[in-house]
Amino acid sequence: MQVLHAPEQLQPYFGCALVPTMGALHDGHGALIRRMCDRGLPVVATIFVNPTQFAPREDFAKYPRTIAHDVELAEACGADAVFAPTAETVYPLGLDAARAEAAAWLLPTVASQPGLEDASRPNHFGGVCQVVARLFDLTRPALAVFGEKDFQQLRVLTDMVRESRGRWGSLMVEAAPTVREHDGLAMSSRNRYLLPEQRDQALGLVRALHAAATETDPHSAETMMRSTLEAHGLTVDYAVVRHAATLLPVDTWETPTRALIAAHLGNVRLIDNMSMPIRRELGNS
Ligand code: PAF
Repeated sequence: MQVLHAPEQLQPYFGCALVPTMGALHDGHGALIRRMCDRGLPVVATIFVNPTQFAPREDFAKYPRTIAHDVELAEACGADAVFAPTAETVYPLGLDAARAEAAAWLLPTVASQPGLEDASRPNHFGGVCQVVARLFDLTRPALAVFGEKDFQQLRVLTDMVRESRGRWGSLMVEAAPTVREHDGLAMSSRNRYLLPEQRDQALGLVRALHAAATETDPHSAETMMRSTLEAHGLTVDYAVVRHAATLLPVDTWETPTRALIAAHLGNVRLIDNMSMPIRRELGNS
């Protein structure tokens, strides 16, 4: 497997299956890489901690950087190359210009503004779209995969590609299911910030999502999620049921729905989500 840093090294990998990451790889990323390995395309994982998607008070400086481990894991999972560009390569006009561009980024469709991550993290999706567009420009993939764990990100990026009207040819975006620890905690690079005693409390997220699925309507599901999270000592940012495509509020289970949560444990902000098909499968919608 090759580790690439310069754009001119990417040419043999044009048309690849791309796995964009910020590094600190865990088995969830490993599953994304392995998922791309049977597509008959070269598999490229990118590692770049993108400064423009972090707000000043967020954890950009202390975001874990574990490049040697990441390269090993990517290789073990079958990647053909890791592309780990410098900030100068991604943002040749400098970081101030990049931040200004991210703040002004034209965001696609309603999924970028339903009052979820966008409300808590102003400019976040501007930075995400900016860097992913730049990575697409550099790597020219045929396929890109994103995890459902960051569900709003997945929706926004899917919409960005659709609305780009072919800027990246016939690029396809694929969604991959969230990978969970044995007890259900969604895998995240930020889980390593959890203190041992917070690890059990963090299970409040997945328990709240399961509890939501037993409720008779989305509004009572939201109440149930909030009380489950609070019972675990989590501070709720949002705990909502939304339309799975637009992420706008819903009143019934009759549309494709997604329950989404963001909550804090001390300084650690955790997110999780789940589709709510269980109700319809049980026939009690
Ligand atoms: O999900 C992530 O790791 C990042 O937001 C992404 C898509 C790699 C862009 O920096």
